[in-house]
Amino acid sequence: MSMKINDHITWVGKIDWELKKFHGEEYSTHRGSSYNSYLVRDKKTVLIDTIWMPYAKEFVQNLKKEIDLSEIDYIIANHAEVDHSGALPELMKEIPDTPIYCTKNGIQSLKGHYHQDWNFVEVKTGDKLNIGDRDLIFVEARMLHWPDSMFVYMTEDNILFSNDAFGQHYASESLYNDTVDQAELYQEAIKYYANILTPFSPFVTKKIEEVLSFNLPVDMICTSHGVIWRDNPVQIVEQYLKWADHYQENQVTLVYDSMWRGTSRMAEGIAEGLKKSMPGTTIKLVHAGLMDKNDVITEIFKSKAILVGSSTINKGILSSMAAVLEMVKGLKLKNKKGAAFGSYGWSGESVPLLEELLEESGIELASAGIKELWNPDEDAMARCVDYGETLGKTL
Ligand code: FEO
Repeated sequence: MSMKINDHITWVGKIDWELKKFHGEEYSTHRGSSYNSYLVRDKKTVLIDTIWMPYAKEFVQNLKKEIDLSEIDYIIANHAEVDHSGALPELMKEIPDTPIYCTKNGIQSLKGHYHQDWNFVEVKTGDKLNIGDRDLIFVEARMLHWPDSMFVYMTEDNILFSNDAFGQHYASESLYNDTVDQAELYQEAIKYYANILTPFSPFVTKKIEEVLSFNLPVDMICTSHGVIWRDNPVQIVEQYLKWADHYQENQVTLVYDSMWRGTSRMAEGIAEGLKKSMPGTTIKLVHAGLMDKNDVITEIFKSKAILVGSSTINKGILSSMAAVLEMVKGLKLKNKKGAAFGSYGWSGESVPLLEELLEESGIELASAGIKELWNPDEDAMARCVDYGETLGKTL
């Protein structure tokens, strides 16, 4: 399948409706994804990125229907991660001498993946490749989200090929931001930012400011996952600037796991108290053991405060909470407050351990935690409500 974007650009990627996990098991893709590859035709012909390896043969076959492969003058590899470079080995069997334009880190990374000495051409920010009536301008985008990542700007059509940045794991037949369900699109875009780009937020801000300083008009942003931003493409750039700037909504999230619902009931009591002292604030309960972990991270990303809870087990915390907090640590979140809670039977280590993990993640403790013995009775539940109400006044 191919889709014409305009008279000079054809989408030649793959829509992967069946993808449910990405990055191994690390990222859930409830709505599938797409690997967007673009064929640009001017006096010269350029292929921008390829697709993931399992679909490599299909990709090359489809590309052959679109063009005689020998007519491809240049390949641009904006990013070496295998979801974009995975079809290169199959393609390069057919056109082995075609130059591959990428960053210095891209060459290292592609060699590391495929162990091939292809005809690499190293490019840096500001380098231009004239393809006829158009120039392709390269912009290194280090750590957005790998050291090799790069954007390409195309003059005349004013298109930014942004690779992973501004993308979403979101399969759609229509491929444009104005032709898909807007709530789904927003959810997939924020989840993608929260889980993949948050650790690199300082780089995001700096890179966007740098690109804006070029004063280049942008009529379309062609990402490598999900929709192409053609209707008011700047909206996603503005949204990224907000997400990169210690983002928070008026939300408090209780993230917890519970063996016999003791900690669950504590969460319900604390939430009741928070609701009393924080009218207008969204209070959400998120069971880390039952909910998708990337959705949990998205809720944490949106929150101004997180309350983390776990039963004590074997002098530790429940494994789902350990997993979530390990992810939180890697995200380097800023400007968020936290507190801990949990029920226990005899030793009761979970609360101090959770507090330690919050502090290691740079989350400021808003209050000492609360723990209750066994299944909270009426008095214990009243203490949880009071705790939530008091804590809410400080948030
Ligand atoms: Fe879509 Fe970093 O690969």
